Amino acid sequence: MKYFNLSTSFVTSWLLGLCAAQVNVPPGFEPGVKWQIDIQHSLDTSAPLVPTDAPVWDLDLYFISRNPDTVAYLREQNPDVFIMCYFNAGAVQESDCDWDVWQRPEFSRLLGNALNGFPDERWVNIKNQTGRDLIKKRITVARELGCDGVDPDNIDGYRVDEDDELPAQNKTGFSLSEQDELTFIRDMAQHAHNLTTTRGFTMLIGQKNAAPLAEALFDELDFAVLEDCKGLNEDPEDDEANFCAQFRRYITATPRAKPVFSIEYPMSLRNPDTDGCNPTGAKESEFSASCDPRPETQGFSTVLKIQGDEEELNGCTQYCGQLGSGVVVTAEDPAKDDNSCTAGTF
Ligand SMILES: *[C@@H]1O[C@H](CO)[C@@H](O)[C@H](O)[C@H]1NC(C)=O
Ligand SMILES: *[C@@H]1O[C@H](CO)[C@@H](O)[C@H](O)[C@H]1NC(C)=O
Ligand SMILES: *[C@@H]1O[C@H](CO)[C@@H](O)[C@H](O)[C@H]1NC(C)=O
Repeated sequence: MKYFNLSTSFVTSWLLGLCAAQVNVPPGFEPGVKWQIDIQHSLDTSAPLVPTDAPVWDLDLYFISRNPDTVAYLREQNPDVFIMCYFNAGAVQESDCDWDVWQRPEFSRLLGNALNGFPDERWVNIKNQTGRDLIKKRITVARELGCDGVDPDNIDGYRVDEDDELPAQNKTGFSLSEQDELTFIRDMAQHAHNLTTTRGFTMLIGQKNAAPLAEALFDELDFAVLEDCKGLNEDPEDDEANFCAQFRRYITATPRAKPVFSIEYPMSLRNPDTDGCNPTGAKESEFSASCDPRPETQGFSTVLKIQGDEEELNGCTQYCGQLGSGVVVTAEDPAKDDNSCTAGTF
């Protein structure tokens, strides 16, 4: 009996080790790595790329499909750049390159209520395997376009469904539970990890927000992307005090420490006169609130970004370091946002 137990646990840890070994992570993809995120517009591939020293870039998957030269533009500056592709995993919107597929009559029941009241963005039934497979196809497209990892947004639809105070039309329409969400994320993660990137590594996948899921997922996913974890713009009544801390599990994971990419939104980074980037960065109180070291955010890769409809997550970024400095503006070409989706099989 004892012998049997030992051998079972031996086989189990051998299998776990084998699974972990299957994820082949590019060198340098580790806590503290510098990054830039711009998912608001297409990059201007004719301008010099700034910042020059960010090994990780988070860009919108569909802007890359519309402007496939973006990949070569980034790799020209740094052949080892890690391109993380942002996509909507929990919902589907009109600007998505595969929107027409979702409009087919046989898929009509997979789309639920409007997200945040925007009628052109609708929750997906992630409990349905057909729905999950259509979303997983987005990860296949990411691989095809040259992405090294994916940043799947809106993986917390279950939280609106579990909120008793919301009227039915503001829920997803599918009564999602936390377990449904975990099943969906694990299905996506397995799919991603089955893919090999053009650079010969495993396609990586991160956790986007959804702090309560971090404990269940940090072992299986490869990084995290968080917004406003320090709560600069939170109602102090909302108890999200542990938001940052829950993602420490990624940083302290063994045998592989995993990066946590964190976004803070100090209001004063926006220049109120131009609606653009304030070249001297956020004012002192907001800069400190965003950047001051805290034990629970040790090792996080933090960027400060502008918040607001047309500017949110655009090329303007301030990096922590020194008050009044560290602001960069990555050049964009918004005219190219409406190009047709030329690259990728939809
Ligand atoms: C999932 O959705 C597909 C497409 O709408 C539908 O044909 C199928 O019956 C659904 N499966 C379940 C279990 O509801
Ligand atoms: C709730 O849903 C309605 C109808 O879709 C929408 O008009 C409203 O803006 C939504 N409210 C919120 C807070 O999302
Ligand atoms: C991943 O690959 C394994 C082994 O080939 C397969 O059994 C599994 O179904 C695949 N999973 C997904 C989600 O594609």
